[in-house]
Amino acid sequence: MRKTILITGAGTGIGKDSAFALAQRGHHVLATTQTQAQADALQLLAGAQGIPLEVFKLDITSDIDRQRIVPFAIDVLINNAGVGESGSLAEVDMQRVRHIFEVNLFSTLALTQVALRGMIAREKGTVLLVSSIAGRIPMPFLMPYSMSKFALSAAGAGLRAEMDQLKKNIHIALIEPGAIHTGFNQSMSDSKYAWMGPSSYFAHQAEKMKRQEKATFKFLEARSTASIVKQIVKAAEAERPKLRYVAPWVQGWGVRLARILGV
Ligand SMILES: NC(=O)c1ccc[n+]([C@@H]2O[C@H](COP(=O)([O-])OP(=O)(O)OC[C@H]3O[C@@H](n4cnc5c(N)ncnc54)[C@H](OP(=O)(O)O)[C@@H]3O)[C@@H](O)[C@H]2O)c1
Repeated sequence: MRKTILITGAGTGIGKDSAFALAQRGHHVLATTQTQAQADALQLLAGAQGIPLEVFKLDITSDIDRQRIVPFAIDVLINNAGVGESGSLAEVDMQRVRHIFEVNLFSTLALTQVALRGMIAREKGTVLLVSSIAGRIPMPFLMPYSMSKFALSAAGAGLRAEMDQLKKNIHIALIEPGAIHTGFNQSMSDSKYAWMGPSSYFAHQAEKMKRQEKATFKFLEARSTASIVKQIVKAAEAERPKLRYVAPWVQGWGVRLARILGV
């Protein structure tokens, strides 16, 4: 059945590939981007590939932009927009931590509230929250990001239980990607070196950390977004989506094992 699906952060990476995949399956896709320049570029690209997308700017941190979704009868909201931030919790500036929570948690929930108003009135809707396996196990030196995704995953599970009690046919599900090569992990890991000066507790091992991070992501990252896009499509089209959709599966099982072992 054709659905109206709004996706945030659709200018790049997982968001863009999901928007294209959903539109190719016949859905009416509202692909939104943080900036107007990204919206223009995405519209051009979709046009060149003959993929029908309705594109507009939606910076999720802007209340004015969030209100732009009100006129649409959205069946599925995919909260994909997110930012990364790294560094040790022993020294990272709290402004940086506040900012990542502002985008990944508070603005995501604020947009979800706007969408829920319409969905609850129409007694129909699904909200997907793109969290991360970094929201299942703590990731040293990525904790600002990891904490924001822990909070988002908890919010998703709690909101799901609340919507179940409301009995208005509203479904909430979590999308939990593992490491996927979109450039996101590299920018996130590098972000701390912009402020870690010689007085950092970890200055003496910064070069070694950089090498290890590069090697770890090179080893871990799936080269394509295909596996997580498949899960997003599955969750978006499900009548009653389950709580979690994880991909690549091998990373999902790795996280389960780590949790059993008490990491
Ligand atoms: N790649 C991975 O390994 C991985 C793993 C787990 C979870 N995830 C999650 O998957 C989602 C997509 O990530 P990705 O890998 O595809 O990276 P990406 O290409 O950087 O996608 C993130 C998108 O969100 C946008 N965005 C940031 N702030 C925004 C705002 N205020 N309003 C609207 N859009 C905003 C970004 O726009 P700009 O380009 O302008 O910043 C970008 O287009 C994120 O939530 C991320 O946390 C990714």
